[in-house]
Amino acid sequence: MQTELILPRPDDMHLHLRDGDMMRAVTPYSSRDFARAIIMPNLVPPVTTLEAATAYRDRILAAVPKGQDFRPMMTLYLTETTTPDEVAAAFASGIVKAVKLYPAGATTNSDSGVKDVRNVMHVLEKMSEIGMPLLVHGEVTSAEIDIFDREAVFIDRVLEPLRRALPDLRIVMEHVTTKDGVDYVRSADSGLAATLTTHHLVLNRNALLAGGIRPHYYCLPVLKRERHRLALRDAAVSGDARFFLGTDSAPHARSAKESPCGCAGMFTAINTMPILASVFEQEGQLDRLADFTSKHGAGFYGLEPTAARLRLVKRAEPLDWPAQIDAGGDEVTVFDPGFPVYWHVADQPGATEEQSHEDI
Ligand code: DOR
Ligand code: ZN
Repeated sequence: MQTELILPRPDDMHLHLRDGDMMRAVTPYSSRDFARAIIMPNLVPPVTTLEAATAYRDRILAAVPKGQDFRPMMTLYLTETTTPDEVAAAFASGIVKAVKLYPAGATTNSDSGVKDVRNVMHVLEKMSEIGMPLLVHGEVTSAEIDIFDREAVFIDRVLEPLRRALPDLRIVMEHVTTKDGVDYVRSADSGLAATLTTHHLVLNRNALLAGGIRPHYYCLPVLKRERHRLALRDAAVSGDARFFLGTDSAPHARSAKESPCGCAGMFTAINTMPILASVFEQEGQLDRLADFTSKHGAGFYGLEPTAARLRLVKRAEPLDWPAQIDAGGDEVTVFDPGFPVYWHVADQPGATEEQSHEDI
């Protein structure tokens, strides 16, 4: 039985760190285990300019504990007033790696999102020209579309026409949650990739609804049926470079989740790597964990895997984590995968010379 695993320090290619006290509370958990992360821009107000992204990046770096090396890779939030020049300048700076498209109303803080992709085509054309990736929250928001079908309908109504119109645009379907999404990514010849979250690999919709409603398992896209979860796991362990980790770790105050209208998101940054080691072990594919967490995403963004290493060890006693962490007076509930996790992160080596946060 394999009890040790050494990986290039992983990349989280979809992460919500928030701002202020919440950011200061959660950032050290990501910087402890991850080398780099693609940082989501859905703050209030959203991060729409290079200037705002740079200031946000500086606040994140100030929250990284001394001795840890963590590189936030920033994104801009696409609105219908974003200009091609703004995104091009942001990309040229090296600080901003991608633009995020939230359909208006799709999820947390998405009110300034895009109502109709036709209104942002001039920006997307520019991105296609300069090779800047578009990260999509791939769900339609029309009230008449069943929430469990929103990803599949987005592919038909938005993504496929967009890819036909701009075949060179590089697109990531963020947090893909269905077999339809996995099959669509596999069917593409080029230019399309997908992130997969930890929680969608572990849970199906029964976790959310069977035997009681569990608000801490509410996220968007919402958890799906078992056959979809199995398709996601198959994609994650397949070795296909188009699939890589984006945790979508999305902390919210406990009171905002345990409410008559609870908000979407699970806080998984703290225990993601041990849980993923368990998932890959369950699938008999431990050797492919590094591809998923440390190589495929880096490749998509044109980066080398990190020189630093993360060591995971399997122990007899299960990993312990707090049920909640404190975030400036608010509690954030920690993701519970529902099974004991025997993998532990053993070493989190700090910076190496090749990899300091000035090196962007
Ligand atoms: O569950 C989610 N939480 N899904 C999203 O798309 C957004 C995120 C958040 O920001 O809370
Ligand atoms: Zn997200």
